[in-house]
Amino acid sequence: MRLGIISALQEEQAGLVEAMRGPSRLIHGKREYFAGHLWEIDAVCVLSRIGKVAAAMTATTLVEKFGVTHILFTGVAGAGDKSVRVGDIVVAESFVQHDMDASPLFPRFEVPLTGLTHFQPDQQMAVRLSGAAHDFLELDLLEAISETERREFRLEQPRVHRGLVASGDQFVNDRERLNAMNDALPGLVAVEMEGAAVAQVCFELGVPFAVLRTISDNANENAAPDFMRFVKSVAAQYAFHITRRMCRDLKDAPLQFSSDSAGT
Ligand code: ADE
Repeated sequence: MRLGIISALQEEQAGLVEAMRGPSRLIHGKREYFAGHLWEIDAVCVLSRIGKVAAAMTATTLVEKFGVTHILFTGVAGAGDKSVRVGDIVVAESFVQHDMDASPLFPRFEVPLTGLTHFQPDQQMAVRLSGAAHDFLELDLLEAISETERREFRLEQPRVHRGLVASGDQFVNDRERLNAMNDALPGLVAVEMEGAAVAQVCFELGVPFAVLRTISDNANENAAPDFMRFVKSVAAQYAFHITRRMCRDLKDAPLQFSSDSAGT
């Protein structure tokens, strides 16, 4: 197994490259890739930057140029539903591109000429990731995030959600827009800007993948103010510890061969 780990922003991947054994830095195009071992798993870390094209390009390069066999995306997202709170974790069960609309030629949300609107992560990877996320909340949270920060960001008993994640080239900070998305996309739990693009690439290339998102905001008018501070002091800790748990678990119990990245 060779695991590609993508985050959109530097702040979301803080600490991972430093934790790497024998890292080598490789430049390809306008991105820096770090290849080495993370908790004994052969891994390549990279920052995609923000948006679907950036994420698709990065995922494709990881597979085609760096030979990764699996992809893990970690980062932050806006809450897609009232039951999802800042500080909660979402492990995606399915992805849709909320800004894909080639109607009337194709149904809304359908990726033209694939016949698909929704793309699913690898079931085995998502189950492992969600296990790592639960263990993190139960065993690491109090140590990983200081009491001051837990209080400041009101992290009270964060939870792990599985569900639909919608991606598009738009930072959602408008309640009306989120309501419209909720009406059109039942079961929505999070909104972000990359996951569905990685999902489509992994579907097309037959590469298993999973996506972890820490909820940073409510995708409404208050979405922006504390965003960067939250990413640095909370989301980066979540991503680091959950990735560590996931790598250790993959080392102890390797994934069974499967390529069930699917679409519906
Ligand atoms: N990533 C984090 N918060 C987001 C939001 N509100 N919209 C899109 N992407 C996000």
